[in-house]
Amino acid sequence: MTKTSELIDQLLMSTYHRSEVIFVRGEGSWLYDDQGRKYLDFLAGIAVVSVGHANPRVARAVADQMATLGHVSNLFGSEPMAQLADRLVGLSGLDRVFFANDGATANEAAIKLARRHGQNLGGVDRYRVVSLLDSFHGRTLATLAATGQPQKQATFAPLPPGFSQVPAGDIDALAAEVDGSTAAVLLETVQAEGGVFPMTDDYLAEVRALCDARGALLIIDDVQAGLGRTGQWYSWQDRGIEPDIATSAKALANGLPIGVCLARQEVAGAFQPGDHGTTFGGGPVVCAAALAVLDEIQERDLLANCRSRSAQLAAGLIQIEGVRHVRGRGLLLAAVLEGEFAAEVAARALGEGLIVNAVRSDAIRLTPPLTVTAAEVDNALELLSKAMAPVGVVHA
Ligand SMILES: Cc1ncc(COP(=O)(O)O)c(C=O)c1O
Repeated sequence: MTKTSELIDQLLMSTYHRSEVIFVRGEGSWLYDDQGRKYLDFLAGIAVVSVGHANPRVARAVADQMATLGHVSNLFGSEPMAQLADRLVGLSGLDRVFFANDGATANEAAIKLARRHGQNLGGVDRYRVVSLLDSFHGRTLATLAATGQPQKQATFAPLPPGFSQVPAGDIDALAAEVDGSTAAVLLETVQAEGGVFPMTDDYLAEVRALCDARGALLIIDDVQAGLGRTGQWYSWQDRGIEPDIATSAKALANGLPIGVCLARQEVAGAFQPGDHGTTFGGGPVVCAAALAVLDEIQERDLLANCRSRSAQLAAGLIQIEGVRHVRGRGLLLAAVLEGEFAAEVAARALGEGLIVNAVRSDAIRLTPPLTVTAAEVDNALELLSKAMAPVGVVHA
C-alpha cells in the first residue's frame, strides 16, 4: 500500500470497495498510475469521461472560464448557462432546463417537478412515482426510494413515501401500479447499474401509451445512457418515444459535476420561483466545460464512432472463450460470462492494464470513452482475453 492509498483507507468513510491503484494522469483512453504503469480505460469513470481523459478543449474551456468568471449564484445568470440551455433544448427536443449537480440531484429535481405538476391535478394530488426493479436513480433519500434495489434501501428505512417498483419489461405489472395518484413513471432505457439491461422498443412504447392513458408523466433517467453513450444524443431518440421529463449528468462535463433536468414546456411551468434550487447548478465553469464536450461530440462525429466501435467491441467480446453473450447498446455494453466470476476477471484485467467493472457477479461492464479508436478496442479485447484465460480454466 502506498502512502496515498493508506491515507484514503484511514480517512475516508468506507462507502466504497476502492482499488489500491492511484492514478496520477490521463490522456484520451489511457490512465497512468503512481508506479508508472499505464492502463486502457474501458470504464471511463463509469461512463463519464466520454471525450477522453485530459481532453484539451475541455481543459482550456474550464481554465479560461475560471480565469474569467467562476461563480455568480443562481440569483444571476451567465452566458455559458444560457448557451448550454440553448444547446440542450435543441438536442433533446424538450423545452426547459433546470441545472443540478449530478445524477441524483437531477433526478431529485425531476421527481419534485413531477409532484409539483401533479398537485391538485383533476382534483387529486398525483404524487406517486413508479419505477422499475433493478433500476438505479441515485443515493439521496428520494432517489434511493425510487431505486429498485431493496438491498440498497433496507439500511435507510424509513424512506420517503410515494415510491414503488415493478418488474422491468412487464407492462401488466406497471398497469396494475399506475393510477390516478401517480405523478410519473421513471425509467432508464438501458438499466445500467442494474446490469446493462436494455428495455425493448415495444415495452417503451407500451409505457408511453400507458402514461398517456392514465395521465402520468414519463421521466427518462438518461444519466448514464445519454449524451452519445448509446450512439444517440439522448437514448430515447432511436426508440420511438419521447419523455415529458428527462435527466442527464455523468458525461455532460467530462468529469466536472453537473446534472440536468429537462422538461416539456407545460410540465416545466409547474415550477415557480422558490420551489427548487441549488447553489452550484448551472455555474459558468461547468457549463463552459459542457459546451466544450458537446462541441467535441459534434465536431468529431463521436455518435458515429460510438456506433462503429460498439459493433467492433460486441463482435470481439462474443469471440472470447467464457463470454456467453453480450448485451447493451452503443458503448454501454456488458459481456455476460459463463459463471459468476466477473469480479475475478475485472481484477485480472486491471493487472493486465485494462480497466473494466463487474456490474453483476456474472457480467463485465464496458463503457470506454466515445473517442476510443479501433486499435484501442482491439487492444482491450486482447487484454480481456488474457484476463479471462486463467479464469476460464479454473471454472471450466
Ligand atoms: C441511471 C443513473 N441514474 C442516476 C445515477 C446517480 O448519479 P450520481 O451518482 O451522479 O448521483 C446514476 C449513477 O450511476 C445512474 O447510472
